[in-house]
Amino acid sequence: MSSADEVPVEQLTPKQAAEELKRLAEAVLRHDRLYFQEAAPEVPDAEYDALRRRNEAIEARFPDLLRADSPSRRVGAAPATGFAKVRHRAPMLSLGNAFGDDEVAEFLARIRRFLNIKDNEEVAVLAEPKIDGVSASLRYEDGRFVQGATRGDGTTGEDITANLRTIGDLPTELKGRAPDVLEVPKVLEIRGEVYMRRDAFQALNKRQESAGEKVFANPRNAAAGSLRQLDPQITAARPLHFFAYAWGEVSAPLGTTMAEARERLHGWGFILNEPARICASLDQVLAYYREIAEARPRLPFDIDGVVYKVDRLDWQERLGFVSRAPRWAVAHKFPAEQAETVLNAIEVQVGRTGALTPVARLEPV
Ligand code: IVH
Repeated sequence: MSSADEVPVEQLTPKQAAEELKRLAEAVLRHDRLYFQEAAPEVPDAEYDALRRRNEAIEARFPDLLRADSPSRRVGAAPATGFAKVRHRAPMLSLGNAFGDDEVAEFLARIRRFLNIKDNEEVAVLAEPKIDGVSASLRYEDGRFVQGATRGDGTTGEDITANLRTIGDLPTELKGRAPDVLEVPKVLEIRGEVYMRRDAFQALNKRQESAGEKVFANPRNAAAGSLRQLDPQITAARPLHFFAYAWGEVSAPLGTTMAEARERLHGWGFILNEPARICASLDQVLAYYREIAEARPRLPFDIDGVVYKVDRLDWQERLGFVSRAPRWAVAHKFPAEQAETVLNAIEVQVGRTGALTPVARLEPV
């Protein structure tokens, strides 16, 4: 290949780097559109993450070459047409990724440096599974569900209120379940993940197939496709679930720690990601990761990693955000799940310039 995409970042010339940033911006934009708007991604997440990471590495080496359309400046994709637009009052951000123990150690070290925390002081983080679904924002006013939106590009999403209302896990009225549960704030925006369980996804695909309808590649695509229906009755027939994991605009604080906020959300009727655990050291964090990775195949839904969030909310506030992600949280990703399959055929595609690309046709697993 003559293009710069196989050259290690350290060896790129400025000219190659500029070409490469252009190619990566276009590729990520295309994959975002396929993933967010068409619910039909063409590449595995690991490959997509690699494109974003290469882009970030090149930008770190050549900061002057940062493009206005760089993927590092944007989350997700602009909303597709068909639904009304909703402007998020607090942006819906994404998460930075950590791919190995070293990157998790660096995440924790960066927090300590940023907050200037002494060696003998503990930094507690809340660890939770990272659900592989579709994020949504739910707005409650005076305890009533009034609007629900997709993330869209993080600033503007799509109004999918009617579709979200069909999800049984999603409380439409928030009420204190116990005498000690605090009053619900006047404005409460809950963020979380809409997902489909694996068994329900397989059953849905069987139904779709016998009805001669489109089958979905995985539970996440099925959840995304189900949420994007213009007819809420179709969504209602799809087995969707919801986990709450964060919040946007709130008229009163939800507590002083993540753990406290979670308890409150639970008391108001939300379902939270479990098992969650407070970890006080790198060792505890990594032990949690290994436990969840080991339990992953037995979980009823897909997860693609775990998320660590600084537990103290005042520290979260001080840490703030960098471009599209909070400094106080990170996603520790699992390596792509491995499976054995049969190579059915190798097709050779001829590109516009005459370049030949072999394409493997694999038996789906
Ligand atoms: S926290 C401001 N916690 O992963 C950060 N996100 O790759 C809010 N996700 O956009 C996100 N499980 O859609 C958080 N336990 C969890 C999550 C989670 C899944 C999704 C979410 C986010 C994406 C980032």
